Amino acid sequence: MNMRKRPEAKGEAHGKLILVGEHIVVYNKPAIALPIPLMIRASIKEHPGEVSISSNIYTGNLNGMQGRLLGLYKCINEAFWRCNKPVEGLHIDITSELPDGRGLGSSAAAATAIVRGIYDFFQRSLSEEELYSLVELAETYAHGKPSGIDMMTVSRDGPIIFQKSIGALPLIAPCALYFVVADTGIVGDTKKAVNHVKNIKAQRPFAIDSIINQIEDIVIKAKEAVLRGDLILLGDLLYKNHEELKKLEVSHPKLDHLVEIAMNTVALGAKLTGGGMGGCIMALTKDMNDAGIVSRELIREGAKEVWYFSTASKERYRLSSELNEG
Ligand code: PMV
Repeated sequence: MNMRKRPEAKGEAHGKLILVGEHIVVYNKPAIALPIPLMIRASIKEHPGEVSISSNIYTGNLNGMQGRLLGLYKCINEAFWRCNKPVEGLHIDITSELPDGRGLGSSAAAATAIVRGIYDFFQRSLSEEELYSLVELAETYAHGKPSGIDMMTVSRDGPIIFQKSIGALPLIAPCALYFVVADTGIVGDTKKAVNHVKNIKAQRPFAIDSIINQIEDIVIKAKEAVLRGDLILLGDLLYKNHEELKKLEVSHPKLDHLVEIAMNTVALGAKLTGGGMGGCIMALTKDMNDAGIVSRELIREGAKEVWYFSTASKERYRLSSELNEG
């Protein structure tokens, strides 16, 4: 048995943005996703007695984690077992820059950060497969039957193209991509949205399969656009993807409003991102200056919070309806 442990350890993970292909990825179709530079960090310290947690969504003993936190409870327990350790003697403090339930991968990122932290604490090496199998436990409770795209994206450093039966492959653009992400302030419900698509697909298979095929075509073209750095085409495809997601009935009037605002300023394209029915929109711009212009307009038009960043640098900005730029 491995008896080593650190007095203090850390684990972290970033959030994710789905560029194109959410929902169809559930049906073994491809989707493209990339990291958003907003972090979740888990700090693990020795602490006598029961395992305890502090975070912005739950503070208390591990055994008190119920409801939508049950998956994370199972994931943490299993991580201890896999490290051959009794489930005791630790405090896990979680800090997050990611809003919860907004389609930015906060549940997968939290589980990834915690598992990394626990393995670091016990000085155990963690393979990708082991990490995914543990995070999947948490995600299954949070989402029902997740495609796996969230956990694949939050643990990788660059954009990926993902398909359930194939896995994740890196997708490298020849130029920087500039993104704006705006939060409607409305909590999305991925489980409900995924079930809604499943139900309408059962009721109207021909019509819904045709929308799924349209989105698959968008994803294939978007992959080529990313590889060539064709931002005009990519922007166009993002907006087309949003139109198809509206037909799948997973959008929300506030998402549609913010998408139109972005399109009417200087965005090259915009769409909802993630499960929908609330949550966030994303927009593509030609540079950081345009990203700032779109962001300020989105805040004026009712976005709760906006982030903008480039895939090529560590630069990132945040605007809030309550605070000024930070
Ligand atoms: O976690 P969210 O809200 O970003 O949703 C993930 C994307 C979906 O395709 C809607 C669901 C899934 O499991 O892939």
